[in-house]
Amino acid sequence: MMKLWKTMMTGLVAILAVLVMSPEWARSVERAEAEETARLLAKLFSAGRMVIDQNQALIDDSHRGDKGFTPEVFEQQLIQEFRKQTGIDVSRIQNTPVSITVPPLARELLPAFVVASKEVIRDAQVVINQRGIGYKNFIPATYGSQAAARFSKQSHVRLKQTTLQPRNPKNEPDEYEASVLKWLSGRPRAEAYVSELTEEGRTLRVVMPIYYVRDCLKCHGEPKGDLDISGYPKEGAREGDLAGAITVTTPLNLR
Ligand code: HEC
Repeated sequence: MMKLWKTMMTGLVAILAVLVMSPEWARSVERAEAEETARLLAKLFSAGRMVIDQNQALIDDSHRGDKGFTPEVFEQQLIQEFRKQTGIDVSRIQNTPVSITVPPLARELLPAFVVASKEVIRDAQVVINQRGIGYKNFIPATYGSQAAARFSKQSHVRLKQTTLQPRNPKNEPDEYEASVLKWLSGRPRAEAYVSELTEEGRTLRVVMPIYYVRDCLKCHGEPKGDLDISGYPKEGAREGDLAGAITVTTPLNLR
């Protein structure tokens, strides 16, 4: 009996060893890690945009000079918003044990995005603290472009916000993004995200849809064609409509 048990265990260990060492297995682990990291990054990006949205009235207050909306205040709110959505505390992420929910790549990249975001808020202090001017064009989208650009410059992972008919041509979707956005726009609102390997498995693309909430509609809502406070024609969108997506592009090493 003992002998049979031993043989079975040895066999099992051998099978596991082959699995762990096989390129197939390594590839799927790499993909799973990159995918989960991309999903968390997109959520963090979206939380950052949300924090700007929540502070919009403060930022656009023409009577106040110093708003107290410092990089540190922003950081706290960003971390809190992200924790509310995911249960993950980015400020302590380096100390948490490696797990399936927080893969090593995420432990590196989430704090890097927080740093890049803080730099954007730091550089915007003069604009934010300007007295006598209401609308300052420091909104979720402009914060988003700057944070994504800074982060993507320092990292091999690329972040982007995009939509089918963007106001800013820099946010133009590429072919893959356009096809996913078209697919998403014909469907009811979903918390899901789309993930796919492209370029023969060399690149992982993750697309997380974002939807309009009430706050967005004063600029993107009705009546369609009327100019909003930023000078762009409104899109005529309604609450819950697809606003666009946050996309994450990650090169994979193993092929
Ligand atoms: C004060 C007006 C205003 C508000 C409020 C606003 N936006 Fe925008 N949005 C803009 C402007 C202006 C741009 C283009 C920014 C630029 O020049 O990069 C933009 C760009 C975007 C983009 C990037 C694609 C593009 O068109 O270039 C998305 C996505 C977007 N907005 C979604 C939202 C969502 C979602 C909300 C609500 C959370 C929101 N916006 C709130 C004015 C606004």
